[in-house]
Amino acid sequence: MILITGATGNVGSELVKQLAKKGVPLRVVTRDKSKVAHLDQKIERVIGELSDEATAEKAVEGVERIYMFPLIIDEDHHSNTMLLAKAKKAGVKQIVMLSSMGAASEFSKIGIIHREKELLVEKSGIPWTFVRPGAFMTNTYQWCESIKSAGKVFNPTGEGKVAPISPKDIATVAAVALTSEGHEGKIYSLTGPELMNVPEQVKVISKEIGKPLECVDVPTATAAERLKELGVLPGSIVEGLAAFWEHMKKGQFASQTPDLEQVTGSKGEIFSHWCAEHKDAFLN
Ligand SMILES: NC(=O)c1ccc[n+]([C@@H]2O[C@H](COP(=O)([O-])OP(=O)(O)OC[C@H]3O[C@@H](n4cnc5c(N)ncnc54)[C@H](OP(=O)(O)O)[C@@H]3O)[C@@H](O)[C@H]2O)c1
Repeated sequence: MILITGATGNVGSELVKQLAKKGVPLRVVTRDKSKVAHLDQKIERVIGELSDEATAEKAVEGVERIYMFPLIIDEDHHSNTMLLAKAKKAGVKQIVMLSSMGAASEFSKIGIIHREKELLVEKSGIPWTFVRPGAFMTNTYQWCESIKSAGKVFNPTGEGKVAPISPKDIATVAAVALTSEGHEGKIYSLTGPELMNVPEQVKVISKEIGKPLECVDVPTATAAERLKELGVLPGSIVEGLAAFWEHMKKGQFASQTPDLEQVTGSKGEIFSHWCAEHKDAFLN
């Protein structure tokens, strides 16, 4: 039995699909049962918050391996620490944790939080694999609203490039690590197949949805202020994102790694393909 936390997220939902297709016995945990109503009835569900002890205990019972989602808003690591303790007690044999490339350099609060969560996993004594992606293609969903309402994307990262990765490819790496041997103690740093800046991504979206889009440069501080006003993320995480934007703008993330191809045999999904599959999200 494999437990998937964050099972309704961009990566987790792809992982559920891929493992279910392979016929692997699965358990998912979510706070909202309607988000997993579409899943095959063979997939076990635990409904609740992982910060709740009873939910965590139920989630790990009889489980051999866990895909662990690193809830970054849980800055004191309460949920992850509890899950690891329960997992150890339940005799779990492997943790595959979604982390971040930022954990390697700890250049920002977000990188530091991911590294702290990795250290907790290492300290648990349970064999582990860390999946450290760079920027997700799904980050472009943050532009949906301004694309729909004004045909605009506000960009604090200038011409700086990253190699966006599809959550499907991240999930494939996690699926391989969870279902084959030889991944203990390994760290997979994952990037997508193309280096792209925001204006280039916006051009692709514009072509896919058949609507002209304008990419508007904004200062980092303005973008961070807007994000803070939304009140969805803690201030320290917004500051971490602002540090990421600054580094990206300077071209410091314009690099690619070989790990995705080494683990999966594929260079990964290109952005225009991902966009064609998800274009409805950008349409009114
Ligand atoms: N975006 C990037 O560029 C990037 C780069 C590197 C690493 N990462 C890592 O990847 C993570 C995002 O992964 P993702 O896109 O697959 O996830 P996501 O789509 O943001 O989904 C969040 C998941 O967290 C679960 N969750 C549980 N408790 C929660 C709570 N209190 N508040 C919010 N969500 C809660 C949600 O489950 P329910 O709602 O079903 O309970 C959901 O399944 C980031 O947090 C970061 O750690 C991201």
